[in-house]
Amino acid sequence: MPHQVTVVRAFEILDSRSRPTLSVTVGLAGGLVGHADVPGGTPIGTGEAVELRDGDPHRYGGQGTRTAVTHVNGEIADALHGQDFTDQSSIDQLLIDLDGTPAKARLGANALLGVSMAFARAAAAAARIPLWQHLNPPEVIPVLPVPHFTLIAGGARASNPLDFQEFMIAPYGAPTMAEALRCGSQVYTALRRILSAARYGTALGEESGFAPDLVQPEDALRLLVQAIDEAGYTPGRGGVAVALDAAATRLRQPDGRYRVCSQLLTSGDLIARYLQIAEDFPLASLEDGLGEDDHDGWVRLGRALDGRVQLVGDDAFVTDPARIARAAGEQIADTVLIKPNQIGTVTETLRAIRVCLESGYGAMVSHRSGETTDSFIADLSVGSGSGQIKSGAPAGGERVAKYNRLLQIEDRHPGLPYGLGL
Ligand code: PGA
Ligand code: ZN
Repeated sequence: MPHQVTVVRAFEILDSRSRPTLSVTVGLAGGLVGHADVPGGTPIGTGEAVELRDGDPHRYGGQGTRTAVTHVNGEIADALHGQDFTDQSSIDQLLIDLDGTPAKARLGANALLGVSMAFARAAAAAARIPLWQHLNPPEVIPVLPVPHFTLIAGGARASNPLDFQEFMIAPYGAPTMAEALRCGSQVYTALRRILSAARYGTALGEESGFAPDLVQPEDALRLLVQAIDEAGYTPGRGGVAVALDAAATRLRQPDGRYRVCSQLLTSGDLIARYLQIAEDFPLASLEDGLGEDDHDGWVRLGRALDGRVQLVGDDAFVTDPARIARAAGEQIADTVLIKPNQIGTVTETLRAIRVCLESGYGAMVSHRSGETTDSFIADLSVGSGSGQIKSGAPAGGERVAKYNRLLQIEDRHPGLPYGLGL
């Protein structure tokens, strides 16, 4: 069924870090509308699509998004008004062509993504189906994803001395989404109790994970395992595993070594450290264990861990289907972090996930550090069959919005399976 676009409208709102972003509405003939709020990242992967910021130092320290808003309300609205679109890929292709640059730098990937997401919501409403179903390709089995909860934050997420960015737990063994979330919440609460008792402090980092004054990553992992245990769950892959995002691109020095706990480590040293961590802890997943350009290191890391730990690439892939296809040939990582605003349209995001699944790679749908209460990625994770999601701690409205949406999907569609089927 073709959808005629009648309304395209954006305005500037704030994200969870108090930075501006866009809220976009797309309306269709017949009166149905879709809304979407665009997430904001801290781009470090050099190939990320461009988040257009005004650069006016007198507004929001240069972070304003009025230019992107003007592009939506002007050039993009003019190009879409009165046009019929039969599917998501036709509107997204028009947006890509209209922008005309490889990294969506002219109109802004934030402008394009907002329109793309809002159109998807409007089209789902017009078809009277939930968004996850609208995003579900016919050959893909929808699945409720294993959540990866960031319980301890470090790196760019917090001002504590921890160098690795995210210390997560993942309830692989939970029978349902609802039980997975209960687990996340109860372990989070147990951890708060442990941190208070040990006088570490319970201040929060950007994604509502705790930011205790720890130095060694192993100490943070030890606290996670203790919290899993004290909450009454079984640490391990069959129960509740731990996961890391080292965000190592940020740790890399000009000489190629990595600065961890005030020491300079070669790729080989860091790989040895990960091997020991995998021995000592129920580590299921390691994201950005090495920097985005450290190709040889990634290959060696893959050989060293030999499938025992899932290796997730974020900065090296930037949700780009072409990069994913190339890396799959080079044996870099085995799972890709999927962030819609790294690439800029819904169609390209779905294509990135399809390339992953066709290449035998896993896919983990992800929030950004700057979030809103928009829960689009929850539906995306289910409909795309990705099987995994990370959306920060099970706390904080913008993080919980995604997890709660997953609960709602499970409640309304009790037949949907949970997890990776491991
Ligand atoms: P970002 O980080 O949203 O701040 O870019 C997310 C991540 O590194 O996984
Ligand atoms: Zn990351």
